[in-house]
Amino acid sequence: MPSSHSSRRGSGSVGERVRQAFTWPRPAGVLLAVVGACAVVSSGIAFTPGTFPRTTAAPELPLAVSADSPGSDKGQSDPSQPIHLLVAGAAATSPIQALFATGTVSVPESGLWDVANPESTVVLVNKHHELIPKTFIPADLTTPNVRTDSPDPPLLRKNAAAAVETMFAAAAADGVTITIQSSYRSFLTQISLYENYVEQKGQTEADKTSARPGYSEHQTGLALDIGDANVPAECEFTSCMAGSAAAKWVGAHGMEYGFIIRYPQGEEALTGYLYEPWHLRFVGISVARDMAVRGISSYEQYLGSLGAPSYK
Ligand code: DAL
Ligand code: ZN
Repeated sequence: MPSSHSSRRGSGSVGERVRQAFTWPRPAGVLLAVVGACAVVSSGIAFTPGTFPRTTAAPELPLAVSADSPGSDKGQSDPSQPIHLLVAGAAATSPIQALFATGTVSVPESGLWDVANPESTVVLVNKHHELIPKTFIPADLTTPNVRTDSPDPPLLRKNAAAAVETMFAAAAADGVTITIQSSYRSFLTQISLYENYVEQKGQTEADKTSARPGYSEHQTGLALDIGDANVPAECEFTSCMAGSAAAKWVGAHGMEYGFIIRYPQGEEALTGYLYEPWHLRFVGISVARDMAVRGISSYEQYLGSLGAPSYK
């Protein structure tokens, strides 16, 4: 149902009032960073050049920890010692911890490696993990310069928007025209969208495809639904999108730009949603590539998190 799914933002004044009323309540410094002897053992993951067919530099992070990284000891650090980082909220033995323990992951957002923080690129949002606060609004929403079929200009967080621009350009160079159908959605927009679905199909069916307000990745500004300019409109948001050139292209190359297919086929028990070949989530290049290298398709598994098949 493309029209009801398309991007519809709440009014700016309401959004501004909500933003002022609610701020992320967690204290700074939730990131756990340890230098040198650390209990987490490096897995020795390395991204071999040429592992992925496309090597276009996406607008993200160099694969190195900067001197300004949390846990680094400016002026005193031993460059031969890797900096080990832990991701707050992810299981101690999870793949994401192993990736960060290598010290090869860059840190673009100091203090934000926390899967419960909606401002973090690695935030986990599913039926067991609502946004806190539920009315969260990202601070750096911007409109990417790409083709859209939604009535309003699309909005994404700055890092995701830049990655989308690079990715869509690379797809276009391969003859694939990807479009944005839906991107950032406010808490208020998700209320009306979800209620529409419930009215049409009943709550049980609605919950298989639409997140309840406060539980949608779209509200993070890191998720988008794609379309393909060369498939009929009826195909958008349906299983036939899986066969489109756009969906196949992002399935093969999305990780090179930091995107994962967030609701993969066969992972409904973990993700809580039916297969959505159109729903992409920006997690950053290091994480997206690592998931691909390890052959892990669900973000829940990658974080060592229990599945979230239904609401608690
Ligand atoms: N369709 C996804 C689950 C959402 O509503 O956020
Ligand atoms: Zn979506």
